[in-house]
Amino acid sequence: MAHSPVSILSQLDFNGQPLQEELLLRTFHQLMDEHGYVLLCNVTEEFDPVRFCRGLGDFVPNYTGAVVGDVRPEPGMDDVYHAGNTRPLTPHSEGYDFAITPPHYIALWCVTPANGPGGETTLMDTRPLVDTMSEQERQHFLTTDYAWKTTEGVQRLGLDLHTQHPILEEHAKGRIVRFSCNNLIRDEDDPVAELQVRWHKTFERDHVAIDYRRRDMLVWDNWRLLHARNAFSDRNRHLRRIQIAG
Ligand SMILES: [Fe+2]
Repeated sequence: MAHSPVSILSQLDFNGQPLQEELLLRTFHQLMDEHGYVLLCNVTEEFDPVRFCRGLGDFVPNYTGAVVGDVRPEPGMDDVYHAGNTRPLTPHSEGYDFAITPPHYIALWCVTPANGPGGETTLMDTRPLVDTMSEQERQHFLTTDYAWKTTEGVQRLGLDLHTQHPILEEHAKGRIVRFSCNNLIRDEDDPVAELQVRWHKTFERDHVAIDYRRRDMLVWDNWRLLHARNAFSDRNRHLRRIQIAG
């Protein structure tokens, strides 16, 4: 079942005036620390999402090299698992196929919302799930390296990425969770197969669904939250995307 987002920040104040930049950033970080995501709404045409994201950290280029990526249906990509089509995406973290630390934050903002149903970005906080793991399970996922591959869509761009990382990693700046329902290479009887089923089910039940209006910007903590997408039919849906090292 989908829950409505609760971590919502208005770019306009109660008088309909843009919130002071310093206050906007302070409230943003309070909400981010509490919930692991922030939906910025009531966004004016003057608001500069790239400038705002620069305040969060260094940018990590997208697969194509574009620093500001476009998420919209691309020609010839309808038959693969890929963000650049209209199909659903299963819960995952971003950057498990990077050799480096995954981006800390992902920002998506809406250029053209999808007409009709679908196209929501969906999110789930892994913190309570990891916190309630048995010590034995947590140790297993902290110390076992898994093999990861990249998505079919990215392979079609000519990038065949293969990495080795654990599911859980303790980083100086916090815990990193890496997760994918379909790009983790493992045996059927590996403990991670059960985790994939369990987290996928929990995601279906507990996720927050973000329905974009024009210029809305969603930022989430990619070390902590999983994300996915509902299918949609409007091929004009267009988001922009920045990955931030943090
Ligand atoms: Fe993604």
